[in-house]
Amino acid sequence: MKGFTLWFTGLSGSGNTTITNLLVKELRKRDVSLEVLDGDIVRENLSKGLGFSKEDRDTNIRRIAFVANLLSRHGVPVITAAISPYREIRNEAREIMDSRFIEAYVKASVEVCEQRDVKGLYAKARSGEIKEFTGVSDPYEPPEDPELVLDTESQSPEDSAQQILAYLEERELIPAAPAS
Ligand SMILES: Nc1ncnc2c1ncn2[C@@H]1O[C@H](COP(=O)(O)OP(=O)(O)OP(=O)(O)O)[C@@H](O)[C@H]1O
Ligand SMILES: [Mg+2]
Repeated sequence: MKGFTLWFTGLSGSGNTTITNLLVKELRKRDVSLEVLDGDIVRENLSKGLGFSKEDRDTNIRRIAFVANLLSRHGVPVITAAISPYREIRNEAREIMDSRFIEAYVKASVEVCEQRDVKGLYAKARSGEIKEFTGVSDPYEPPEDPELVLDTESQSPEDSAQQILAYLEERELIPAAPAS
């Protein structure tokens, strides 16, 4: 198996985790075993204790890139699902992993993510209860030239998962879908 890192980036509530979960299900059907580094889970473990200052966010993302590189260079497919707001640090990850790095921009406006407000975080950010919230009181820098753009305002999570599968198939990084 060829290793790769599918690196999601997008605002909170844009669909990083939702699309990842769908993708994992589809990849299991194709017998692809992979590792997922989800932002929320990494922050409870590998990055426990880090906050949301630029420095801490950068440290968090560098750790994710470090682990993704260790795994993917030995043939393990990796999905990272963290907001990863800063372009410079994402590009660092790209440099480390070179052609194994696939950037997927999970695109949805702040307004739409705020309407979804799955975790109630936008409301807390607006009231000032949460400071340094990406898209509200902290920057989000969209990728300039991502391999994939997943427009989650105009397509369903299933469509986004299919778009990614088609791309990975095209690059011969995963086997074709089993005949149904
Ligand atoms: N087209 C779509 N694609 C993805 N998610 C969608 C779409 N339409 C609606 N949603 C909803 O948006 C929400 C996205 O939440 P999700 O937890 O995936 O966000 P996230 O990007 O992982 O955020 P966080 O960075 O806070 O973890 C889910 O409730 C999902 O059902
Ligand atoms: Mg998430």
